[in-house]
Amino acid sequence: MTTESVPTASHHKSASTARPLHPLLAQRWSPRAFDAGSALTGEQATALLEAARWAPSANNSQPWRFLLARRGGAAFDRLFATLAAGNQVWAGEASALVLVAAQVHDADGTPMPWARYDTGQAVAHLSTQAEHEGLAVHQLGGFDAVRAAAAFGLDESLAPVVVLAVGSRATGEGLPEPFAARERAPRERQPLDDLLLSASDPIDCELALSA
Ligand SMILES: Cc1cc2nc3c(=O)[nH]c(=O)nc-3n(C[C@H](O)[C@H](O)[C@H](O)COP(=O)(O)O)c2cc1C
Repeated sequence: MTTESVPTASHHKSASTARPLHPLLAQRWSPRAFDAGSALTGEQATALLEAARWAPSANNSQPWRFLLARRGGAAFDRLFATLAAGNQVWAGEASALVLVAAQVHDADGTPMPWARYDTGQAVAHLSTQAEHEGLAVHQLGGFDAVRAAAAFGLDESLAPVVVLAVGSRATGEGLPEPFAARERAPRERQPLDDLLLSASDPIDCELALSA
């Protein structure tokens, strides 16, 4: 990595937006380089989980569940072992791994159709709070959900949804390719216009891009 391309754990990957966003949203990004010397404090862990706890959910059902495993502990190793090989290359430096599960049916077996949606929203809250705490979150769908459920004896009503790598950003020196290049790459999104659905009838539903 050349000197000028070394991220300084700053906000060099801020989103380019049509209107200014709150810095916690604009400056969030998903690092692969974590500071292996950093530990999550108890206050930070509580703040992240509180942020998730106060997310909205269908009928206030709060279907999200979290298993927080700190680096150096047996639970971390067990969760780490469920990660896809490409994620294992870098996620072991995170201060904590969090297994996120959704309660997909209630005690009577009635399906909770919004459970995964609600759980994703709780993770969005957690991620934003992490940014406020000076931390970063990288969500990982690349893990073996069946193995994770078995590894922690999850009830069958709980579906593992994602694993979070949480920690302090590092510079990325020492990250192997292609991960180092991804760390340096600009963040990209589809154009805003491409996200707008158009109605099949002539109803007016345009979006004003400028105030
Ligand atoms: C549900 C979900 C699963 C993801 N799985 C992985 C993964 O397995 N490995 C990985 O490196 N990144 C993973 N990501 C991170 C995305 O690639 C990343 O959020 C996306 O490229 C946008 O980058 P940004 O978060 O830095 O804006 C995942 C993100 C989400 C939301």
